[in-house]
Amino acid sequence: MLKKEWNDIFDYYREEKTMTQSELVIAVLTELQAIEGCIPKEAREAAAELAGVNPGYVSAVIKRLPHLHEQSFRHEIKVCISDRCKNKGGQDVLKEIQRILKIRPGQVTRDKRFLLTTVYCMHYCTKGPNIQIDGRLFQNVTAAEVPSILKKYS
Ligand code: FES
Repeated sequence: MLKKEWNDIFDYYREEKTMTQSELVIAVLTELQAIEGCIPKEAREAAAELAGVNPGYVSAVIKRLPHLHEQSFRHEIKVCISDRCKNKGGQDVLKEIQRILKIRPGQVTRDKRFLLTTVYCMHYCTKGPNIQIDGRLFQNVTAAEVPSILKKYS
């Protein structure tokens, strides 16, 4: 049994006849995300059924759009992987974050503390490697500094 708020969304979009399947999926997922803070499996399946697509398509849409997430989390880490940051040690910073948290970009830690994502250039290239946690910018980051940065976030 789906939540009433979810059913309200599905009922509204069930009547929508002007959107493409892709637009419909994105609109439904965006509204579900606003309510839940993420898009749980049951919601993904219901959205797929509504739009007449398979659940894999819905998951692919979620992976492609940075504002959508399959799981909830407390803190989002963004690591710049563009060349200028990467060439100054950004790749090592990313590897260290992955090693400590045991996740890869796009994944959430088991304790739901961190979501790790990558971005292409934050436009602070001269002070890279750059990472952001919940929008707070850390610049000239080294792999050795990663543990102490992560400890600040519980
Ligand atoms: S390359 Fe990382 S901020 Fe521009």
